[in-house]
Parts: sequence; C-alpha cells; structure tokens
Amino acid sequence: MPETGATYPLEVSILKDVATLTIDTTGPSLFKRGYRVAKGEAPLKENFAAALVLLTNWHNDLPFYDPTTGSGTIAIEAAMIGRNIAPGLHRNFAFEQFALTPSDLLAQVRDEAAAQENDAQLDIMGADINQEMVEIANNNAHQAGVLKQVRFKQLAVKDYKPESERGVIVSNPPYGKRLNDIQVARQLYKEMGEVYRPMTGWSKYILTSDLTFENSFGQKATKRRKLYNGTLRTDYFQYWAQRPKH
Ligand SMILES: C[S@@+](CC[C@H](N)C(=O)[O-])C[C@H]1O[C@@H](n2cnc3c(N)ncnc32)[C@H](O)[C@@H]1O
Repeated sequence: MPETGATYPLEVSILKDVATLTIDTTGPSLFKRGYRVAKGEAPLKENFAAALVLLTNWHNDLPFYDPTTGSGTIAIEAAMIGRNIAPGLHRNFAFEQFALTPSDLLAQVRDEAAAQENDAQLDIMGADINQEMVEIANNNAHQAGVLKQVRFKQLAVKDYKPESERGVIVSNPPYGKRLNDIQVARQLYKEMGEVYRPMTGWSKYILTSDLTFENSFGQKATKRRKLYNGTLRTDYFQYWAQRPKH
C-alpha cells in the first residue's frame, strides 16, 4: 500500500485457527445517509423507511403524508426518492480517504449522481403531535437538502383534513410495546380509522407490531405484508385507494 498519512480501518475475525484481516471500505453503516442529526423515540433506519415508501404505489406527482413523522425519516426518504437523490450523496465513505482511491474519479462519480437529480415539485407533508419532533424533522430535512420539498407541522392524527382527493399515507405509529401503552396505541389506530376510512381516494400504509391492528382501525386491510423492523415482527397494513371513476 502506498506510503501516505491515510488510515485504513482494519477488522480482524478469527475462526478456528484462521485469522482474516479485512479493510473496512465503508465506515459508518450503509443505512446511515448522514442527514439525521437528531432522532426521536424508535426512529426507523433510513433504508427501511425508503423500503416502506418503495412498497407503496406513490409516484412523485401524488401528495404524500406521514402523520406520525417523528424525526421525519419516511417523509425525507420519500423526498429523496421523488427527486432521485442518491442515498449516499450526503455522507462520506472510508475508502474516500484511501491513497489508492483516485480523487478525480471520486469527484466524477459524485457529479454523475448529482446530475441525475430532478427538480420535481413535491407535495410531501409530515406531522407529529409533538412540536419538538417537528423541529428535529425540519433540521434533518435541511441536512438532507430537501427542506423545500417537505413541510412538517404539529398536528394530531384526529385533526387531519385532506387537501386533495388522492394521495398516499405512510405511517409508523407507536406500537404500544411497553406495559400499559397498548391501549393508547389502539386508541390512535381507532382515530386513524375514523379519519382515513372515508378517504377512499388515498392509499394508506401503516406499520405496526400489533397484529390485531385491523380491529382498532375498523377495516380489513387490502393486503398485509410481514416485515422485520430490526428483530421485531411487524405487519405493513395496506389499504389501497379506489380507482377514480371516469
Ligand atoms: C415510532 S415514532 C415515529 C418514528 C419515525 N418513523 C422516525 O423514523 O423518526 C411515532 C411518532 O408518533 C407520534 N404520535 C403519537 N401519537 C400521535 C398522534 N395522536 N398524532 C400524531 N402523532 C402522534 C409520536 O410523537 C412519535 O414521534
């Protein structure tokens, strides 16, 4: 390896009598995009939040709403997808410091990724009952470069009034895992049902580990999809929009 001041993070693993030395080319885990300066309670990993968006029928000319936004991860990932922003563009990788990485090639690859961004006008909103989370989400959106594409506001689920006929809701509400919290979570799912059931032009996608969610929501899901949020078994309850009548 060339003589430079560069450092090469090494990892050693030993299995039986064989030691393997590997160089870490990534640095912080790949799911970290580098924009999340602060988090709330039970934040989703960024790549998991992106997967939740990609599992919906959303495209970037439809309204998108996350009613339990916390630190804003789902709404920010939707904005990045909507504008085709490469997920690693706002972070660094360990290999960038390696002497054998050609800096001109690195700059070229970053420029190519940046050139693929579009300037689509997006209608994305995130809301949370907790004003502190709204400030955190705004900071994170600013870091991710999507502050102009996402609006965050303080709003309780029960007070939401849709501004358009069609759109997509993605929510990662509290799961009520702690003792005594399940009744509060189920009350929230009931409120979601009351507000969202009449919104038949909207598709709704709600992730929870409460597998009886449909009872509280008051409607059987169009489809349920089993997902692991880390090690926790959850279902992604999907309520598909009715097609517009012509
Ligand atoms: C599991 S956290 C969401 C985490 C988020 N996906 C993230 O990655 O940061 C659930 C959020 O729902 C919010 N919440 C709880 N009850 C609510 C309600 N009635 N209306 C709106 N938000 C609510 C909480 O304040 C919390 O921030």
